[in-house]
Amino acid sequence: MKHADLVELIKDGVTERGQRWADLGAGEGAFTLALADLLGPGAHITAVDRDAGALRRLGLEMGERFPDVAVATKVADFTRPLGLSGLDGVLMANSLHFVRDKAPVLESVRGMLQPGGKLVVVEYGSDRGNPWVPHPFTFERWTQMAAQAGFEGTRLLRTIPSRHLGSMYSALSLSPSGRGLG
Ligand SMILES: C[S@@+](CC[C@H](N)C(=O)[O-])C[C@H]1O[C@@H](n2cnc3c(N)ncnc32)[C@H](O)[C@@H]1O
Repeated sequence: MKHADLVELIKDGVTERGQRWADLGAGEGAFTLALADLLGPGAHITAVDRDAGALRRLGLEMGERFPDVAVATKVADFTRPLGLSGLDGVLMANSLHFVRDKAPVLESVRGMLQPGGKLVVVEYGSDRGNPWVPHPFTFERWTQMAAQAGFEGTRLLRTIPSRHLGSMYSALSLSPSGRGLG
Protein backbone atom coordinates (compact mmCIF):
# COMPACT_ATOMS: atom_id res chain seq x y z
CA MET A 1 0.00 0.00 0.00
CA LYS A 2 1.11 3.53 -0.73
CA HIS A 3 1.89 5.98 2.07
CA ALA A 4 -1.15 8.11 1.15
CA ASP A 5 -3.44 5.06 1.47
CA LEU A 6 -2.03 4.23 4.91
CA VAL A 7 -2.55 7.83 6.02
CA GLU A 8 -6.12 7.72 4.71
CA LEU A 9 -6.84 4.52 6.62
CA ILE A 10 -5.95 5.93 10.06
CA LYS A 11 -6.41 9.68 9.68
CA ASP A 12 -9.82 9.92 11.40
CA GLY A 13 -8.27 8.33 14.48
CA VAL A 14 -5.27 10.68 14.60
CA THR A 15 -6.75 14.14 14.55
CA GLU A 16 -4.52 16.14 16.88
CA ARG A 17 -0.96 17.18 16.14
CA GLY A 18 2.17 17.02 18.26
CA GLN A 19 1.02 14.20 20.52
CA ARG A 20 2.80 11.25 22.16
CA TRP A 21 1.91 7.90 20.62
CA ALA A 22 3.24 4.36 20.51
CA ASP A 23 3.11 2.00 17.54
CA LEU A 24 3.07 -1.59 18.84
CA GLY A 25 4.31 -4.15 16.33
CA ALA A 26 5.63 -1.33 14.16
CA GLY A 27 7.76 -3.57 11.92
CA GLU A 28 9.62 -1.51 9.31
CA GLY A 29 7.34 1.40 10.04
CA ALA A 30 4.90 1.71 7.14
CA PHE A 31 2.20 2.88 9.57
CA THR A 32 4.68 4.68 11.83
CA LEU A 33 5.42 6.96 8.87
CA ALA A 34 1.69 7.52 8.34
CA LEU A 35 1.34 8.31 12.04
CA ALA A 36 4.28 10.73 11.88
CA ASP A 37 2.71 12.48 8.88
CA LEU A 38 -0.56 12.95 10.78
CA LEU A 39 0.98 13.95 14.13
CA GLY A 40 3.42 16.42 12.63
CA PRO A 41 6.39 18.30 14.11
CA GLY A 42 6.87 18.06 17.86
CA ALA A 43 5.20 14.67 18.12
CA HIS A 44 6.86 11.72 19.82
CA ILE A 45 6.39 8.12 18.69
CA THR A 46 7.67 5.03 20.48
CA ALA A 47 7.92 2.23 17.92
CA VAL A 48 7.91 -1.23 19.51
CA ASP A 49 8.73 -4.49 17.78
CA ARG A 50 10.59 -7.68 18.65
CA ASP A 51 12.42 -7.45 15.31
CA ALA A 52 15.52 -5.29 15.90
CA GLY A 53 16.45 -5.16 12.19
CA ALA A 54 13.02 -3.88 11.20
CA LEU A 55 13.22 -1.17 13.86
CA ARG A 56 16.67 -0.10 12.63
CA ARG A 57 15.24 0.42 9.14
CA LEU A 58 12.26 2.25 10.64
CA GLY A 59 14.58 4.61 12.53
CA LEU A 60 16.55 5.46 9.39
CA GLU A 61 13.45 6.06 7.27
CA MET A 62 11.80 8.19 9.95
CA GLY A 63 14.94 10.32 10.29
CA GLU A 64 15.02 10.92 6.54
CA ARG A 65 11.32 11.60 5.98
CA PHE A 66 10.08 13.05 9.26
CA PRO A 67 13.09 14.58 11.04
CA ASP A 68 10.81 16.85 13.12
CA VAL A 69 9.03 13.91 14.72
CA ALA A 70 10.93 12.29 17.59
CA VAL A 71 11.00 8.51 17.41
CA ALA A 72 12.20 6.08 20.06
CA THR A 73 12.58 2.47 18.99
CA LYS A 74 12.17 -0.28 21.54
CA VAL A 75 13.00 -3.91 20.83
CA ALA A 76 10.45 -5.71 22.98
CA ASP A 77 7.56 -8.15 23.11
CA PHE A 78 4.36 -6.13 23.44
CA THR A 79 2.67 -8.96 25.33
CA ARG A 80 5.01 -8.13 28.22
CA PRO A 81 5.21 -4.92 30.28
CA LEU A 82 6.70 -2.12 28.20
CA GLY A 83 7.01 0.64 30.79
CA LEU A 84 5.00 3.10 28.71
CA SER A 85 2.46 5.46 30.29
CA GLY A 86 0.58 8.72 29.79
CA LEU A 87 0.31 8.28 26.02
CA ASP A 88 -2.20 10.18 23.89
CA GLY A 89 -2.57 7.24 21.55
CA VAL A 90 -1.53 3.72 20.62
CA LEU A 91 -1.57 2.24 17.14
CA MET A 92 -1.67 -1.51 16.56
CA ALA A 93 -1.59 -2.15 12.81
CA ASN A 94 -1.80 -5.79 11.82
CA SER A 95 0.03 -6.83 14.96
CA LEU A 96 -2.68 -7.80 17.44
CA HIS A 97 -3.64 -10.76 15.25
CA PHE A 98 -0.42 -12.49 16.33
CA VAL A 99 -1.81 -12.81 19.84
CA ARG A 100 -4.34 -15.52 20.67
CA ASP A 101 -5.34 -14.26 24.12
CA LYS A 102 -5.73 -10.54 23.53
CA ALA A 103 -7.29 -9.50 26.87
CA PRO A 104 -4.01 -9.10 28.84
CA VAL A 105 -2.46 -7.08 26.00
CA LEU A 106 -5.50 -4.81 25.82
CA GLU A 107 -5.40 -4.30 29.57
CA SER A 108 -1.76 -3.30 29.35
CA VAL A 109 -2.49 -0.95 26.40
CA ARG A 110 -5.24 0.70 28.45
CA GLY A 111 -2.69 1.27 31.19
CA MET A 112 -0.35 3.05 28.75
CA LEU A 113 -2.99 5.59 27.74
CA GLN A 114 -4.02 8.70 29.55
CA PRO A 115 -7.77 9.03 30.25
CA GLY A 116 -9.60 9.48 26.95
CA GLY A 117 -6.50 8.30 25.06
CA LYS A 118 -6.95 6.64 21.67
CA LEU A 119 -6.36 3.10 20.51
CA VAL A 120 -6.33 2.75 16.73
CA VAL A 121 -6.40 -0.81 15.44
CA VAL A 122 -5.84 -1.85 11.83
CA GLU A 123 -6.91 -5.42 11.17
CA TYR A 124 -8.11 -7.88 8.56
CA GLY A 125 -11.87 -8.27 8.49
CA SER A 126 -11.97 -11.97 9.29
CA ASP A 127 -12.37 -14.15 12.36
CA ARG A 128 -10.59 -17.04 10.66
CA GLY A 129 -6.84 -16.97 10.45
CA ASN A 130 -4.12 -18.65 8.44
CA PRO A 131 -0.44 -19.38 9.13
CA TRP A 132 0.53 -15.76 8.31
CA VAL A 133 -2.36 -14.05 10.06
CA PRO A 134 -3.09 -16.46 12.89
CA HIS A 135 -5.78 -14.72 14.99
CA PRO A 136 -7.52 -11.91 13.10
CA PHE A 137 -10.83 -10.44 14.22
CA THR A 138 -13.69 -8.71 12.48
CA PHE A 139 -14.84 -5.27 13.58
CA GLU A 140 -17.89 -6.89 15.18
CA ARG A 141 -15.66 -9.03 17.38
CA TRP A 142 -13.36 -6.11 18.03
CA THR A 143 -16.30 -4.10 19.37
CA GLN A 144 -16.92 -6.82 21.96
CA MET A 145 -13.25 -7.36 22.85
CA ALA A 146 -12.59 -3.64 23.23
CA ALA A 147 -15.64 -3.18 25.47
CA GLN A 148 -14.65 -6.18 27.61
CA ALA A 149 -11.21 -4.63 28.02
CA GLY A 150 -12.81 -1.39 29.24
CA PHE A 151 -12.44 0.71 26.10
CA GLU A 152 -15.26 3.05 25.15
CA GLY A 153 -16.81 4.51 22.00
CA THR A 154 -15.40 1.94 19.58
CA ARG A 155 -16.17 2.90 16.02
CA LEU A 156 -15.23 1.83 12.54
CA LEU A 157 -13.09 4.34 10.68
CA ARG A 158 -12.48 2.83 7.22
CA THR A 159 -12.77 -0.50 5.41
CA ILE A 160 -10.78 -1.26 2.26
CA PRO A 161 -10.55 -4.35 0.06
CA SER A 162 -7.53 -6.56 0.70
CA ARG A 163 -5.92 -9.41 -1.22
CA HIS A 164 -5.49 -11.11 2.15
CA LEU A 165 -8.64 -12.25 3.94
CA GLY A 166 -10.91 -10.03 1.84
CA SER A 167 -10.80 -6.71 3.64
CA MET A 168 -8.87 -4.56 6.05
CA TYR A 169 -10.37 -2.03 8.45
CA SER A 170 -9.33 0.61 10.92
CA ALA A 171 -11.14 1.26 14.19
CA LEU A 172 -10.87 3.76 17.02
CA SER A 173 -11.48 3.04 20.72
CA LEU A 174 -11.00 5.34 23.69
CA SER A 175 -9.63 4.61 27.13
CA PRO A 176 -12.14 5.57 29.83
CA SER A 177 -12.18 9.33 30.38
CA GLY A 178 -12.89 8.90 34.09
CA ARG A 179 -15.76 11.37 33.80
CA GLY A 180 -18.88 10.32 35.59
CA LEU A 181 -16.99 8.59 38.38
CA GLY A 182 -17.39 9.62 41.98
C1 LIG B 1 2.41 -7.80 9.80
S1 LIG B 1 3.68 -6.90 10.59
C2 LIG B 1 2.96 -5.29 10.65
C3 LIG B 1 3.98 -4.21 10.74
C4 LIG B 1 3.41 -2.79 10.69
N1 LIG B 1 2.56 -2.51 11.83
C5 LIG B 1 2.66 -2.57 9.41
O1 LIG B 1 1.42 -2.65 9.43
O2 LIG B 1 3.30 -2.36 8.39
C6 LIG B 1 3.55 -7.43 12.28
C7 LIG B 1 4.69 -6.96 13.16
O3 LIG B 1 4.34 -7.24 14.52
C8 LIG B 1 5.49 -7.70 15.18
N2 LIG B 1 5.05 -8.47 16.32
C9 LIG B 1 4.18 -9.51 16.34
N3 LIG B 1 3.99 -9.96 17.59
C10 LIG B 1 4.76 -9.17 18.39
C11 LIG B 1 5.00 -9.11 19.79
N4 LIG B 1 4.40 -9.96 20.63
N5 LIG B 1 5.84 -8.17 20.27
C12 LIG B 1 6.44 -7.29 19.44
N6 LIG B 1 6.26 -7.29 18.10
C13 LIG B 1 5.43 -8.22 17.59
C14 LIG B 1 6.25 -8.50 14.13
O4 LIG B 1 7.62 -8.62 14.47
C15 LIG B 1 6.00 -7.67 12.88
O5 LIG B 1 7.01 -6.72 12.68
